[in-house]
Amino acid sequence: MSELILAFESSCDETSVAVIEDGTTIRSNIIATQINSHKRFGGVVPEVASRHHVEQITEVIDLALKEAKVTYADLTAVAVTYGPGLVGSLMIGVTAAKTVAFAHHLPLIPVNHMAGHIYAARFVQPLVYPLLALVVSGGHTELVTVNHPGEFAIIGDTRDDAAGEAYDKIGRVLGIPYPAGKEVDRLAHLGQDTFHFPRAMVDSDDLDFSFSGLKSAFINTVHHADQIGETLSREDLAASFQAAVVDVLVAKTMAALDLHPVGQLVLAGGVAANQGLRTALAQALAAKHPDVTLIVPPVRLTGDNAAMIGAAAHIELAHGHLADESLTATPGLNFSRAAQPVAATEDVAAKAPLTTAAPHHPEPTAPQFRDPRDPLPGLRDGQGVVLPKPGPVRQRK
Ligand code: KG4
Ligand code: ZN
Repeated sequence: MSELILAFESSCDETSVAVIEDGTTIRSNIIATQINSHKRFGGVVPEVASRHHVEQITEVIDLALKEAKVTYADLTAVAVTYGPGLVGSLMIGVTAAKTVAFAHHLPLIPVNHMAGHIYAARFVQPLVYPLLALVVSGGHTELVTVNHPGEFAIIGDTRDDAAGEAYDKIGRVLGIPYPAGKEVDRLAHLGQDTFHFPRAMVDSDDLDFSFSGLKSAFINTVHHADQIGETLSREDLAASFQAAVVDVLVAKTMAALDLHPVGQLVLAGGVAANQGLRTALAQALAAKHPDVTLIVPPVRLTGDNAAMIGAAAHIELAHGHLADESLTATPGLNFSRAAQPVAATEDVAAKAPLTTAAPHHPEPTAPQFRDPRDPLPGLRDGQGVVLPKPGPVRQRK
């Protein structure tokens, strides 16, 4: 009999429920996005997100079961993202998953959202370990080694803004609504790298990233031009910004591959939809690591979705990593950092043993928002945004 996992994802602004068969087949993957509601605020408003999740979760569950042509009685287990993410949003998915598990006597599988992004690659082809993942989303920019199924260790991380966050913030300056990544990517293909923005930390002796200096350089350039009445090419600005982001992401990923020999590189997270990044990574791999296979999930699986949570849950279930009704939303959940700092200048792969994933029943942490470095808590781009009063929210199909 097939293994059927009912998976929940509600960490940010997408309410999603999927039915995944044997960890590899998507029987259904319903995604109710809230983007239209958050657009006018220039970022995700946590309170609004939670309300949408509450309103939509039952309908999304029903649709997922219906499309998969299964009933609760057919299910093997229930899986849910329990972090990282917005606490109120996570709580809705966790509560719904616990309720289904309890009511139908099903095992409950807690899943790290970032593990989900990486395991979206499992829908493309079987994974071979050890592998390296470049995870680039709105909240994270990480290089992660996966030495064995479900065993993750961070070897490179952003010191400030995530790449997706930088896209959204500079997009706002260009008048592009949230989330701006896709449109900046489109514009970038119409322009040239004429501004030569800084490639921060590209030569540093580690695998870390920094994007806030680039973001500031971009914003200052645009504001300065505004002040002197000069009109800049939006296409060239976008192309220059994208070239700086992509150059650094690709350089650090190649450095990570020099240190950690693997057979596969997984590009994951919302920014993995970026055409410039996909192309540049493929070219760099062909030139520098031709034996490494690049796995990039289809665009519909790079953004937040529950299918990827079901794929990661399949691995957790095989390891017997289950939760009970005490499972709570853990907004600050993260993979462990590799035990020793990784210097990009020497081969320390053998010296730096990789730590295992975070405990599956961590102590509840103090609520954190998606990016604690944001000026206003909880908003990815908080500048000048006023939290809305509760009011009627729109229902979307
Ligand atoms: O993984 P995701 O759906 O949500 C988080 O977990 O954060 O990532 C969303 C991010 C947003 O910042 C969005 O602007 C960015 O992914 N994004 C892109 C592209 N498509 C989405 N960034 C650059 N180029 C794209 N084509
Ligand atoms: Zn995500």
